[in-house]
Amino acid sequence: MSIVSKEEIQNIRNNINIVDLISGYVSLTKRGKNYFGVCPFHDDNNPSMSVSEEKQIYTCFSCGATGNVFNFLMDYEHINFKEALKIAADKAGVNIDIDVTRKEEKENPVYKIYDISNKFFKNNLNTKMGMDAKKYLKDREISDEAIKEFEIGLSLNEKDSLTNLLLKKEFDNENILKSGLVLKNEKGMYDAFYNRIMFPLWDLYGNVVAYSGRDYKNQSTNKYVNTRETDIFKKGELLYNYHRCKNYSRINKKVIVMEGFMDVIKAYDAGVKNVVATMGTAFTNDHVNLIKRLSNEVLLCFDSDDAGVNATISAADILTKNNIVPKIIQIEEGLDPDDYIKKYGKEAFVELTENPTDLIDFKLKHYKKTLDLNSSDGLSKYVNLATQAINKIDDDILIEVSINKLAEESGLDKQFLKSKIVKKDEKKEEAYISSSKPIIKRKYSKYEKAEMNLVYYMLNDVSIIQSYLKKVSCLPSKRFRDLAKHIIIFYKKNNYINEADLITEIEDEEIIKTIGFLNGLNLKKDYAKEEIEDYIKVIEDYNLDYSIELLKRKLKDSRSSSEKAKVAQEIVELKMRRDNND
Ligand code: UTP
Ligand code: MN
Repeated sequence: MSIVSKEEIQNIRNNINIVDLISGYVSLTKRGKNYFGVCPFHDDNNPSMSVSEEKQIYTCFSCGATGNVFNFLMDYEHINFKEALKIAADKAGVNIDIDVTRKEEKENPVYKIYDISNKFFKNNLNTKMGMDAKKYLKDREISDEAIKEFEIGLSLNEKDSLTNLLLKKEFDNENILKSGLVLKNEKGMYDAFYNRIMFPLWDLYGNVVAYSGRDYKNQSTNKYVNTRETDIFKKGELLYNYHRCKNYSRINKKVIVMEGFMDVIKAYDAGVKNVVATMGTAFTNDHVNLIKRLSNEVLLCFDSDDAGVNATISAADILTKNNIVPKIIQIEEGLDPDDYIKKYGKEAFVELTENPTDLIDFKLKHYKKTLDLNSSDGLSKYVNLATQAINKIDDDILIEVSINKLAEESGLDKQFLKSKIVKKDEKKEEAYISSSKPIIKRKYSKYEKAEMNLVYYMLNDVSIIQSYLKKVSCLPSKRFRDLAKHIIIFYKKNNYINEADLITEIEDEEIIKTIGFLNGLNLKKDYAKEEIEDYIKVIEDYNLDYSIELLKRKLKDSRSSSEKAKVAQEIVELKMRRDNND
């Protein structure tokens, strides 16, 4: 069964408080009736997203993002409605039977090819041919539990065992090649991987979409071989272990980022499970966006060689630009997390992850190590780099502490160093004020004001919808007209009105944003009946003027005098109605 009734959907929504749900992702503060937080749907530092407990919707006054619990989940987790419904149902404690397999996965046979390959590789490890590989994993202190959890397998020391298996299963050659697991030359098709320990790589949804195969016999110059990029696998857009980490990073409220997937597996064995890896690729904005979805508290735990330290600093700078200031888990020189665990044990590693270094201290230490502070040139470079680093800090107290330290180290005057730090406060205050204001960018005509008020009150009161149906044929602006149409459809079907439930039934994001826009106008809650009548009258006038205008054009184009007379008569009648209205 995969059809969930409207009542069930409403029931699920009613059993989740949007404030609780969003607080799990974004920290919210109560101001007046509503809650405010930093909007996760655009780059921002200011609390421009408002969450209404009363209406059970959120709206960002800066980017316009608006919705109910389902929209939040869909946009935040990048999932479809069904998947959001499933998560919401779990959170609400409501049991629903729903198939959340994505259409793409059902239709693209490459997923199935990976499924079969995965079973094949895993099975190989448990056969006689897997004995050496098993020993290798044991020597590396990878537990049986981790082998199972991370679905570690083995490709055989044969050039076409997987190819033959897939051909026997009657997949098209084209799809088999598309998977990247099988290659082709003039002699025919052959396995891309042989005699390697196979580590599946998963997409964000937990489907295996590629492999990294490790040479475990020191036979190859390539330690790891990866599946080539395919339609479903783009290495730089993935984080190893993302789909598993999701739950753990939410519980721990932080995420640890490593370079190698072997490190992730070893950390998992040590009980540190909120970990992802970049898999040796340069750190990009794609990574930041994924990490942001896991947590805003980020710990970088890269290798401790020079390359690792440089990678740490550039990843930290990209994160900082995106308003995340990471902390650094420093591994002893020359080791990576995996080596560290092997050398010092699991507990020592856990302790290390619990005592990260502030980014500023990490940077200063690194600069000090690479520069000669006894030379004037070295010292001035150091002060320059250090002030640049301090400039990126967002915390007044930490800035003060860092300047004091720098003054001591460099012997330079504190006030002088302070003058090098850009004052952020004023800029921030300004941005905050403008973003917390509703988006009123211009003056509205009386017609626009009338339609905005009318539609806003229709969202909250059935009797206004009834008046609208009786008296108004059409609204001047398309966006309000479209919204009114949806309100009416919803009301006719359900016999009540409620913004959060209405949003569930609207697919067009622009129309949902219009609801957010109207809420952002801060119109008063109570209104007099006469006000509504006035708005309706203004709109009637608009519509009459519009009809008169059309008829005038028709009059000009009319050929026969009888038609001209008829149209003229119509114009007179409309004008009389218009005058009566005033
Ligand atoms: P590392 O060289 O740090 O690997 O590369 P590692 O995690 O320490 O692995 P072991 O302990 O030697 O087995 C980090 C990441 O870079 C990618 C892999 O994704 C690896 O996890 N890499 C590395 C490759 O793709 N190919 C390579 O030849 C090496
Ligand atoms: Mn390693």
